[in-house]
Amino acid sequence: MTSTTDEIPLSTTAERQAVTNGGVAPEKDWVIVTRGLKREYDMGGEIVRALRGVDVAIRRNEYVAIMGPSGSGKSTLMNLIGCLDTPNAGEYWLNGMLVSGMHEDELARVRNKEIGFVFQTFNLLPRASALHNVELPLVYAGVPGDERRKRATEALTRVKLGDRIHHRPNELSGGQRQRVAIARALVNTPAILLADEPTGNLDSATSEEIMGVFEGLASEGQTVIMVTHEPDIAAHARRVIVLKDGMIESDDRRENFRAKIHSTGGASKIGI
Ligand SMILES: Nc1ncnc2c1ncn2[C@@H]1O[C@H](COP(=O)(O)OP(=O)(O)OP(=O)(O)O)[C@@H](O)[C@H]1O
Ligand SMILES: [Mg+2]
Repeated sequence: MTSTTDEIPLSTTAERQAVTNGGVAPEKDWVIVTRGLKREYDMGGEIVRALRGVDVAIRRNEYVAIMGPSGSGKSTLMNLIGCLDTPNAGEYWLNGMLVSGMHEDELARVRNKEIGFVFQTFNLLPRASALHNVELPLVYAGVPGDERRKRATEALTRVKLGDRIHHRPNELSGGQRQRVAIARALVNTPAILLADEPTGNLDSATSEEIMGVFEGLASEGQTVIMVTHEPDIAAHARRVIVLKDGMIESDDRRENFRAKIHSTGGASKIGI
């Protein structure tokens, strides 16, 4: 199918505008805008170009999956979006702030306030209860004890673990552990939830359960960005961005990629 300008949805035009207006703060609706984002590593003279100019605009409340082959730059991009790393060139605007020019301490403050992380390996404290694990980001933020417990209990209830708050990680199933990690990521009410292979350590039934949690959060208005290798997992998102060799290879909304999956007989055939 050839595409003509007539077929480009309005949102795409708005995205083009958002990513091309260099130096100008994006409109409020955009929670993430990157313009010409580059990340290079100098390996003793040999330059590895992990990201070679990524332009992406993500609206508040979007649910996006990032896919692509090993080495295509997914983790590098997630680290930049998550304020764990800074680019060599280009702009990164998060929630109206130009993050790409920030120093480490400023970046850490933004990261703690705006980003919730969910990892493949859960990263929970083994000796601490679910409640205590979820309270931790609030301890760092200086929230008083009563308020902490209230908010951590609410976050655990939101992921349907209200009846497991005193269990330690080894007294929980894999899916329940990942729910604790999701509650911990949400407790600071971050602008975006970033998940890197969140179902990588889970069996397929539990993965579906965790996808149900993400879908619930997305439908409540939480912005979610997830890296995954699995087409079945990506198919839960409403938009799929595919990276290749440090560039965006494709960027499809659900309506379009569902249609592609249907017409080609399988997600694997379209390279997602
Ligand atoms: N700290 C680093 N130093 C040097 N090169 C790096 C570093 N981190 C990543 N790279 C290189 O940058 C490229 C992109 O790596 P990245 O980890 O972003 O890939 P990825 O898409 O997450 O892959 P995977 O699916 O295997 O996790 C790779 O060629 C990698 O070797
Ligand atoms: Mg990776």
